[in-house]
Amino acid sequence: MNNSKELYLTTLRDKNATPHQFRTAATQLAQLLAYDTVNHIKTKKIAIETPNAATTGSTFAQDIVLIPILRSGITMLPSFLFYFEQATVGVVGLKRDETTAQAQWYYCNLPPLTANQQIIILDPMLATGGTGVEVLKKLQQIGVRDSQVLYVSMIAAPEGLHHIKASFPAVTFINAAIDQKLNTKKFIIPGLGDFGDRYFGTL
Ligand code: URA
Repeated sequence: MNNSKELYLTTLRDKNATPHQFRTAATQLAQLLAYDTVNHIKTKKIAIETPNAATTGSTFAQDIVLIPILRSGITMLPSFLFYFEQATVGVVGLKRDETTAQAQWYYCNLPPLTANQQIIILDPMLATGGTGVEVLKKLQQIGVRDSQVLYVSMIAAPEGLHHIKASFPAVTFINAAIDQKLNTKKFIIPGLGDFGDRYFGTL
């Protein structure tokens, strides 16, 4: 992991961080991840004119669709919209059933999706991968291929990565850390606790 990401992750992991410190570090880390994500996007050459001369530059080769997974994914959206200002945004909501740890749908509002877009899923904590699998299944039903998808997380658990890769091997994962494992309650170890509760102050 690069040093700058470790700095902000350290604040996020610290149980004594205040909600204010947690939110600031989460925004800082989301910005670094958004910047990394730009480097994964295909670009194409275009002709432009400076005030002085004709030259060439580049632009994104595909339309971008950001899909934050409620509730925590929404916290990464402003940082990603800063870099992908022309993106359309689809919002999906799945809640983890605390007894079965299965993902249950409660919201889905997607823009038109095509086989030519670059889809970027925002999910700060990739734990069991159950939510990710449900979202990817829904996208597949609409005709999206897994090779179109970048899955961006702050922290991922090995179990979740394996779970998603087993059904959707062509998804590209971007994260700041891959932690050790899940505990019996399906929280990431060492992790940072419940991201949404710490970010929104609902502990
Ligand atoms: N979601 C969180 O917020 N934290 C975890 O450790 C796992 C899922």
